[in-house]
Amino acid sequence: MLTSDSRLTTPRLTLRRFTEGDLDWLAELYRDADVTRYLGGALNRDSVGVMLRVRILDYYEQNPGFGMWVTCERATGERIGFHLLFNIQGETIIQVGFGLAKSAWGKGYGTEMAAEVLRYGFEERALPRIVAIANLENHASQHVLLKIGLHRKGERSFPHPAYAAHGPLAWFERDREDWMTERDGAPQL
Ligand SMILES: CC(C)(COP(=O)(O)OP(=O)(O)OC[C@H]1O[C@@H](n2cnc3c(N)ncnc32)[C@H](O)[C@@H]1OP(=O)(O)O)[C@@H](O)C(=O)NCCC(=O)NCCS
Repeated sequence: MLTSDSRLTTPRLTLRRFTEGDLDWLAELYRDADVTRYLGGALNRDSVGVMLRVRILDYYEQNPGFGMWVTCERATGERIGFHLLFNIQGETIIQVGFGLAKSAWGKGYGTEMAAEVLRYGFEERALPRIVAIANLENHASQHVLLKIGLHRKGERSFPHPAYAAHGPLAWFERDREDWMTERDGAPQL
């Protein structure tokens, strides 16, 4: 379980909880218009502070084992972005998501940790289904979602203000049962 003293790791990356001490770094990430183009747009430091408190730190306490976490490079210890496993706002269904600093794009990092978060959600949280949403123009994100094994199932719109202005979003999903069957290989006849 991803708690204050446990982490998810991959060959090159590690995922840990955010702390108050990550505010400066997160504010810098959310200042970048390229990074936030499909994340609702750039945010000022005050707004990032509210997000850190409400959507990230409080969320850990209210939803143990779920949330948005800091993605770090194991070799350097550097924070390179975030991966998340939490509800779509205004809905109960759990989504996988990610955002990386521009300097970390194009190295396979987005996919590497998203695949581990998906495994964690199915194996360690026993979620029956994990979904994802992406802006229709966000081809890099859609490609990552397909690479980790989600299936594209058309488009969906959401009334929550976090998504309403985007209109229809590309919708991805995968069921645990189906994912586990594939992981375990085809049944022997
Ligand atoms: C989406 C994001 C996390 C991808 O991270 P990344 O580490 O660069 O992704 P990866 O290197 O693991 O994989 C990206 C894949 O998309 C492909 N790709 C990149 N840009 C693309 C584009 N414009 N169109 C199609 N494919 C694209 C890459 O070639 C790569 O595929 P490949 O491994 O088959 O070559 C990163 O671009 C990002 O942080 N974007 C801003 C935040 C964001 O949009 N988050 C998602 C919100 S839904």
